[in-house]
Amino acid sequence: MSPSSASSQGLRALVLGSGAGGGVPQWNCGCRVCRLAWNGDSHVKPRTQSSLAVSVDGANWLLLNASIDLRQQILATPALQPKGEGRHSPIAAVLLTNTDVDHAAGLLSLRERQPFTIWGTPVTLDTIGANRIFDVVGRDIVPRRAVKLGEPFEPLPGLTIELFPVPGKVPLWLEEEEVKTDVIGEGTVGAAIEAAGRKLVYAPGCARVTEDLKKRFAKAHVLFFDGTLFADDEMIINGLGDKTGRRMGHMPVSGPGGTLEELAGHAHVRRILIHINNTNPILIEGSPEEAKVKAAGWDIAFDGMEVSP
Ligand code: MLT
Ligand code: MN
Ligand code: ZN
Repeated sequence: MSPSSASSQGLRALVLGSGAGGGVPQWNCGCRVCRLAWNGDSHVKPRTQSSLAVSVDGANWLLLNASIDLRQQILATPALQPKGEGRHSPIAAVLLTNTDVDHAAGLLSLRERQPFTIWGTPVTLDTIGANRIFDVVGRDIVPRRAVKLGEPFEPLPGLTIELFPVPGKVPLWLEEEEVKTDVIGEGTVGAAIEAAGRKLVYAPGCARVTEDLKKRFAKAHVLFFDGTLFADDEMIINGLGDKTGRRMGHMPVSGPGGTLEELAGHAHVRRILIHINNTNPILIEGSPEEAKVKAAGWDIAFDGMEVSP
């Protein structure tokens, strides 16, 4: 194998989208961060809604969630664009970590009769299966493959994934009167991805870090983790809504029981915040909140970021 082809092998991850639901700026928002983004201020990067693409050979890619911004993300990412003549896509598979709109609606952008595989837990595939709009992605050429928690599978040659439960809640569009916000089950999962001995963990939504999660994260080389809100009450304080982050199934970055505190013992892991809401002040470059997160050893994902664990 020539050195150049050797260097093209190995686990690669591309951040297609680093924002939470709504992206940055959000269509109807004039919060501090969105206002800077609408004005084109260089301190705030625009962000699409969260998704990661991973590959081993650089030719075949797995999407971790199908963001509602997927079409825009493909336009921005040459690696995901068709090669050669006729119909083709480097997107070989999509894995869903839950069925939130920002994570699943992008399937509808993949409806032009292109073969690929959709992976998810039985609960996730049942939810998608019960909603007939997703039948537009023809099951005859796009098989849906259910995988149980803790059962490793190989969505791309040389790339192994194990799904694990992460405390979370049902998607907003399936909420009923009473909502349990940190359910451990098949509804919200993380993905432990391994190729050639390198390990990446993806957990864009997490209500609480359990001891099991701490052990699992400690074994990863790279962790992409829920960075939705900086402060649990930031939506309320800014007059933008009546929900805390925890009510939305997302633990805050700061404060007691927040991510910085809970994962302070994981300094040996490259830790990257993703799924960052537009109200989160870490999105303002040069802000004290950004400085605090960086001083704690965390990186902040941006669209187009490339990571080789
Ligand atoms: C979330 O992450 O809490 C959801 O994406 C919210 C939503 O569906 O808008
Ligand atoms: Mn979301
Ligand atoms: Zn905003």
